[in-house]
Amino acid sequence: MALVDRDLLFSHLTTAELGRPLHYFDETDSTNTRAMRALTDGTARHGALFVAGRQTAGRGTDGSRWVSAEPTGLWMSLVVEFDGRTTPAIALWPAIAVAKALRDGLGVDAHLKWPNDVLVGPRKIAGVLVESIARQSAMAAVVGIGVNLDQPSFTGELEAVAVSAKMVLRREVAIPLVFGRIMTELERAWRQPSEWTRQWVALTRMIGRRVELRQGGATRHATVESLTDEGFLQVRGDDGRPQVVISRGGLDVRVAWEDAPAGGLA
Ligand code: BTN
Repeated sequence: MALVDRDLLFSHLTTAELGRPLHYFDETDSTNTRAMRALTDGTARHGALFVAGRQTAGRGTDGSRWVSAEPTGLWMSLVVEFDGRTTPAIALWPAIAVAKALRDGLGVDAHLKWPNDVLVGPRKIAGVLVESIARQSAMAAVVGIGVNLDQPSFTGELEAVAVSAKMVLRREVAIPLVFGRIMTELERAWRQPSEWTRQWVALTRMIGRRVELRQGGATRHATVESLTDEGFLQVRGDDGRPQVVISRGGLDVRVAWEDAPAGGLA
């Protein structure tokens, strides 16, 4: 696999706002941890990007581990500053950009699982970890994005749930090219917040689908109807009542995909 370095990534960056400055590390603990440290100590501002070849302590949502010890994917975290009134749909924005980049740039049939997983079939190709802090008049967030690109396969517990671009396309994928494309889509989408919910709906297969909502030991079943303007999931429970689902820690949304392994939920 081709080696990636800062200059190579930088040469694929065509954005004006996001990805500037670009910090690259061959190895770090977690780009989210690094970016959050820089944000809180005041050394990173809006647009700063932290990319790593390897992460020794990559983090996923809800305290899970994100396997990224090899330079087989895109492991990066972007700092954004925004008006506190900006819609909570901000959590959806990175996944929209990643799915578009994978679809238009690589021809991968990527789709979105609420709130911000990018799937191919029933398996995850990219995940997003948004960690935000409130300031006096504004908000700032670290948007961590992990994209599986060059793994030849996954084993163990990841086998049924993870996939890479290489596994889908059956060829090697140039990480810097995908990086440039994702950054372009991130910046384009960042400038059109009023489009986020419409674009998210266009890129998901969840509408009309049955879901299992697991939280704090309780399980509910429902059918997805739409997305609210705030980016919450609008469902109808099996009792016929409409409900709005808000993405909170510990909520596990399982979907009955027709192509899920063994016909189950994923
Ligand atoms: C998820 O669980 O779906 C979110 C995964 C987010 C992984 C990325 S990789 C770059 C950044 N650094 C981290 O430690 N996590 C995010």
